[in-house]
Amino acid sequence: MSSIPLQHLNTFQLNAHANELIAVTSVNQLEQLLPLTHPFLVLGGGSNMLFTENYQGRILANNIAGIKQWEDDNSHYFQVAGGENWHDFVMHCAELNIGGLENLALIPGSVGAAPVQNIGAYGVEFSQVCHEVIGYDIHTGLRHIFTNNDCQFAYRESVFKQQRHFFITQVTFKLTKQWQPQLSYGELKAWSAELNEAPTSQSVANKVIDVRNAKLPNPEILPNVGSFFKNPVVTTQHAKQLQHDYDNMPQYIVADGVKLAAGWLIDHLGLKGKSIGGAGVHTHQALVLVNNGKATSSDVINLAHLIIESVNQTFGVVLEPEVNLVDRDGYSKFETCHKRLTNV
Ligand code: EPU
Repeated sequence: MSSIPLQHLNTFQLNAHANELIAVTSVNQLEQLLPLTHPFLVLGGGSNMLFTENYQGRILANNIAGIKQWEDDNSHYFQVAGGENWHDFVMHCAELNIGGLENLALIPGSVGAAPVQNIGAYGVEFSQVCHEVIGYDIHTGLRHIFTNNDCQFAYRESVFKQQRHFFITQVTFKLTKQWQPQLSYGELKAWSAELNEAPTSQSVANKVIDVRNAKLPNPEILPNVGSFFKNPVVTTQHAKQLQHDYDNMPQYIVADGVKLAAGWLIDHLGLKGKSIGGAGVHTHQALVLVNNGKATSSDVINLAHLIIESVNQTFGVVLEPEVNLVDRDGYSKFETCHKRLTNV
């Protein structure tokens, strides 16, 4: 009974359907609706979701809007509804000359999705600016207030991604008045070194927009979900061996080992531009898979599988998708989607 087309509700634009779609526009409406026992899935901007099959459940679209602002001696606070557009909110702050979010400009999606993924770019992560998150447990209908610590943020991870049953109605941001631009990323560092005046939140945001536009495809023109894979973390010993074999391989020391650039690994195998059916590896950024127009779920999953196998064979590293995969039963693992679509 799948009847709601999802093609224009997700930025990869695969042709999938869901049984039902409920647009949630207020907290009141949500409270009336909950608890839900049927299968459900919360959708924000659909910029990190890949529907590999028709979803046999209902979609709750977060369309709750509204922004409140206040301040104390040290910080600016913004209480933002989960359905607000992420980039518009970033630019709203930059225009007010309130810094802290500018490195996260142009990330597609909604404010409510930002904590789930703990979005990050150019040296800044959502977790650094998050004060509090309000989420409703869809199973119980109870409202929960999560402090930053409660959110259990890690690289592209959070309690919301682990548990998957929260509808995020509101996010409160805390932006320090002692703002310092974060310019450690190569291209931002080079740009700021040439400046004759101090960078502002707005000028950094504009530079980030330029950098993203140069590397990352606009999902409205070339459908994609940003990075398809996470950057993998390997042991120090494994990283040393790889450095020995590939002396120009980028490596970054992190708390639990050494992070590698998945884009570099894929690029090094000559897979930029590789395509299967309508799915392709982006020609400027190998970590991004694109829908060239007519991609089917099998095309995307087969291309991702080829990449995972090739990277594993050459570097001994297993890439994990960063995108959320959704099959007929809801969130799914890559192996399950691959089995279902290829019958292996
Ligand atoms: N690289 C290549 N070839 C490629 C892609 C990358 O050699 O095709 C190299 C780059 O030259 C660089 C390194 O790999 O030395 C890292 O590349 P880049 O700086 O472009 O960033 P990334 O690690 O590929 C991550 C995030 C992006 C975020 C950028 C900038 C993840 C999974 N991705 O990408 O986030 O914009 O850093 O901070 O962590 C997203 O999550 O959807 C996303 C786009």
